[in-house]
Amino acid sequence: MPSVFIKTYGCQMNERDSEAVAAQLVAKGYSMANDPLKADVVLLNTCSVRDAAEQKAIGKMSHVASQLRSKNKNAVLGFMGCMAQSRGRELIDKLPDVDLVVGTQKFHRAADHIESLLAGRSEIVVDTEEEKGSEATIREHLLEGASDKKSVTSFVSIMQGCNQFCTFCIVPYTRGRERSRSIEDIVSECRDLVERGVKEVTLLGQIVTSYGRREIGDRDGKSAFVQLIEAVHEIDGLERIRFTSPHPKGYGDDLVEAYGRLPKLCESAHIPVQSGSNEMLKRMHRGYTRERFLEIIDKLRAVRPDIGITTDIIVGFPGETEEEFEATMSLCREVEFDNAFVFKYSTRRNTPAAGMDVQLPKELIEERHAKLLAEVDRIGAVRYENQVGETMQILVEGPSRRNKARMEGRTRCNRIVVFDGGERFRGQLVDLKIERAGSFTLYGDPAILN
Ligand code: 5AD
Ligand code: SF4
Repeated sequence: MPSVFIKTYGCQMNERDSEAVAAQLVAKGYSMANDPLKADVVLLNTCSVRDAAEQKAIGKMSHVASQLRSKNKNAVLGFMGCMAQSRGRELIDKLPDVDLVVGTQKFHRAADHIESLLAGRSEIVVDTEEEKGSEATIREHLLEGASDKKSVTSFVSIMQGCNQFCTFCIVPYTRGRERSRSIEDIVSECRDLVERGVKEVTLLGQIVTSYGRREIGDRDGKSAFVQLIEAVHEIDGLERIRFTSPHPKGYGDDLVEAYGRLPKLCESAHIPVQSGSNEMLKRMHRGYTRERFLEIIDKLRAVRPDIGITTDIIVGFPGETEEEFEATMSLCREVEFDNAFVFKYSTRRNTPAAGMDVQLPKELIEERHAKLLAEVDRIGAVRYENQVGETMQILVEGPSRRNKARMEGRTRCNRIVVFDGGERFRGQLVDLKIERAGSFTLYGDPAILN
């Protein structure tokens, strides 16, 4: 049977989509290849959020195409995901070796398209149409990792799309309008995962706090998203629940209260703030103020004082003044994020921000990016250092990515902890004393494990 190489760019949603495609292909008998130049099928699952991600995927495909086509005339070369959706056929015009383009609502069709291309039944497939119900099609999992060992954690896609239309963001155009799966469907997928050894699920969507707003709605003062968390929480054998990404707008009191009430809901939150300036938040069409964001953080910390909070920030949005940038710096100091992903603004075509006045010079964006990153690192280092001496529960996920001789897991606050231990700890919840802190990593004292 043919072998498939898949490379994923971008967010966890993309990782999850790639996993589902891989699982479908493996179920049909395909094998997974580690080297694109030895594969029969090369799929790049692309990201459009920033131009750099698009350029990387295009560069990779053109490199693979030039090497592979001469060796394997019949190889299938495909783009999937957000760039496939937004550019469609244009990608084949640009890279004529590419013969497959699969949009964001068509991942479940990838296997059929590949089969028909390999069999010579079609020469080119571009499938980027909208498809009703496609949000419920990302459900197959490939839990066996490269080491044949079962995964302990898993992503579960709960919804697709976003209706927020932040002025910088391409996602509403590449992923479409919000569509949610049913609670029963999601719970049943989570149950299957738990039966296969998964202990922790991360509920995924572009804007998970909008989950089921139209399809399910509020009940007893609880949003559909909180109802979903409650239902997943009921699953025996599931130890931990996380989600990403929420929107600050959706952080109602019902969700804050859920953190206090539902012990499986881990005390960590990735809440994208984007900017600390009210003027800027307005231009970004974010739908909250700096004060409201700070209030959410205060409320969460009142319920779970040890909660780990991370965020996304954009620097260099059109017209960003020195004052507005300073407001973002001061917000970071005020909140003390565990970590923040700081992005340089990237113009995305057809978004409102692309047409805004005063696009900032590259050098200024670089300068602000470096300055904010240094501040974020400094704050994070202090927070991580403060954990030393504490005993924390970690869920052991497998060998450390940096040093295979050690094991690693995550605290409930979502900090990575590395410790000396063997495979027998995989999947276990262990209490570990933190003996030192490195760069966004903690090191545990293995003595306590004996
Ligand atoms: N430029 C830079 N960063 C962006 N993001 C989204 N769109 C853009 C853009 N045009 C960032 C936001 C978002 C994260 C996933 O990517 O911070 O939260
Ligand atoms: Fe993009 Fe805004 Fe939707 Fe997030 S909430 S996916 S930044 S439009």
